[in-house]
Amino acid sequence: MIFVTGGAGFIGSNFILDWLAADGRPRHADSDEAVLNIDRLTYAGNLENLAAVERDPRYRFERLDICERDALLALMRTHRPRAILHFAAESHVDRSIRGPGEFVRTNIEGTFALLEATRAYRGELSASESEAFRFLHVSTDEVYGSLGPRDPAFSETTPYQPNSPYSASKAASDHLVRAYHHTYGLPTLTTNCSNNYGPLQFPEKLIPLIIANALAGKPLPVYGDGMNVRDWLYVGDHCTALRRVLAAGRPGETYNIGGNNEMTNIAVVRTVCRLLDELRPDAQGPRERLISFVTDRPGHDRRYAIDARKIAGELGWQPSETFETGLAKTVRWYLDHQDWVAHILSGAYKDWIAANYTGR
Ligand code: NAD
Ligand code: DAU
Repeated sequence: MIFVTGGAGFIGSNFILDWLAADGRPRHADSDEAVLNIDRLTYAGNLENLAAVERDPRYRFERLDICERDALLALMRTHRPRAILHFAAESHVDRSIRGPGEFVRTNIEGTFALLEATRAYRGELSASESEAFRFLHVSTDEVYGSLGPRDPAFSETTPYQPNSPYSASKAASDHLVRAYHHTYGLPTLTTNCSNNYGPLQFPEKLIPLIIANALAGKPLPVYGDGMNVRDWLYVGDHCTALRRVLAAGRPGETYNIGGNNEMTNIAVVRTVCRLLDELRPDAQGPRERLISFVTDRPGHDRRYAIDARKIAGELGWQPSETFETGLAKTVRWYLDHQDWVAHILSGAYKDWIAANYTGR
């Protein structure tokens, strides 16, 4: 079996549903292999995401903090995974600005505890099991810092220059993973991916926040001048890339993953508004009227862009969705899952929205 940490979050739950070909997702070579999901269930972890596999014999859930090294090692000894995919993290930049402590704890100390448990576990495997074992660390393009308008896209050799507590904590975790490969020979794989969007994303992130606010007739907050650029990748394409890296990536290597799709934030927001206007017209008029420019995020990175030629050339991976097809799927998913959104909006989410946006 494989272990997935953070499998109740956005990308982790999409990964598990894709892996097990659940909820109508297509089968592939690994679909019969069992998954153990290790998640602490923070505000971002939602077991509703995994309702389709709840009673599936190929799926198991353990509520556990990744800082718990001994408990992690005990789980490894019991279930003997052949690979660990590490998604668990604090992932929202704005929250890292308001409270960096949890980011240092989970992203750095948690990754360290997981690496330590993995090192001990791997030491107990047979030579062939140990050689076949993989630790796949899911990281971000934000570790590379911010690009100017004409700078070349981030490649795997771009120096790290993280600018937010979030990206600094992810950069630190990447360095630990690298060190465990070089020092202890742990067969690690690291991926650095651009902005994901798609079903099951917590509505604190730009696209689902804009969808939720637009449907509720609330202001659509755009930070600064709205000209910050991100590269957007449909989450299903990220999951395909991770399966490919796990299957064929070279231990010790890092792979950049991106959608070849740079867009300004304001263009993203306008596109979401247009799609919603087509699918769910608003009697009050086009949703672009709700756009509201608000005070910028401190230290806001201006531009990210990914050079994904390494994963394309070495592993033959390419995204299959364009932004248009992926976003249309995403907006339809949110329209069809208003109950999922409503459960989130009714909880502690309100406190976060008040803290981050009131008087901004
Ligand atoms: P998310 O915030 O939606 O989910 C994170 C999950 O980790 C949640 O289920 C949460 O409960 C769990 N978690 C948090 N702290 C934990 C702890 N101490 N122990 C156990 N579980 C814990 O995040 P996401 O957007 O799904 O991102 C997943 C990973 O992918 C992260 O490592 C993130 O840095 C990386 N990433 C995200 C994006 C993106 O656009 N969302 C892009 C590139 C890389
Ligand atoms: O690049 C990969 C990263 O993408 C991941 O590592 C992070 O986990 C993920 O959260 C994401 O980080 P961003 O900060 O780019 O995502 P976010 O959705 O928070 O913001 C996207 C852009 O939109 C960013 O430039 C800030 C802007 N924004 C965001 C929010 C929430 C707004 O203008 N208004 C908003 O209300």
